[in-house]
Amino acid sequence: MVVENFWSAEERQFFRDRMNQAAWKSLSDLPNVREDFPQSGNWAKAEIGPPEGQRLLSRVQFPFLQDYIESFPNIIGRHLGFSYYSYSAGDCLLTHDDTDQGRPIAGRRTLQRRIALVTYLHEEWQPDWGGELIIYAARSGEQMAQPDLVPTHCIEPRPGSLVMFTVPRFHRVCRVDATAGQHRRLSIAGWFMTEHP
Ligand SMILES: [Fe+2]
Repeated sequence: MVVENFWSAEERQFFRDRMNQAAWKSLSDLPNVREDFPQSGNWAKAEIGPPEGQRLLSRVQFPFLQDYIESFPNIIGRHLGFSYYSYSAGDCLLTHDDTDQGRPIAGRRTLQRRIALVTYLHEEWQPDWGGELIIYAARSGEQMAQPDLVPTHCIEPRPGSLVMFTVPRFHRVCRVDATAGQHRRLSIAGWFMTEHP
């Protein structure tokens, strides 16, 4: 699902101001993430603060989200995990399906990622700058080690738009082109997750 103009220019500015104050770590500082996403440039990630998280959630309380999450059996907990991301020229995210990055932590239950959300907060984005989100389906419909994928959606990172899709599903972020210059692809992305016994 794509919602254009989900955020006003003022709201995007609010999040960008908070992003400017956030503690960023680039991929080179995050060995575990780097291991999951080799050759993905050096994009940066920062934790979203509680007020911004609240602002995001107060706007995305769609009934269908709730219905979908509650449709999974034996839920004992509902969790959210959202972060800021900044992609500069040369950065990308290679194809993955959002299952294997949920690293189990000793003594804690693994959370199931159910719905991925990404929303774009930069001021301007031109088609030549790249950074599109490509979503795939399995061409054959079979489960294979190396699935044969066909792109079903190509979503440009339009300022203020919001994208949601159910996971696991294969997707990638196209490399940001050198023509983007100093422009950064700024987003909030994360998941609605469920916890099970
Ligand atoms: Fe992903």
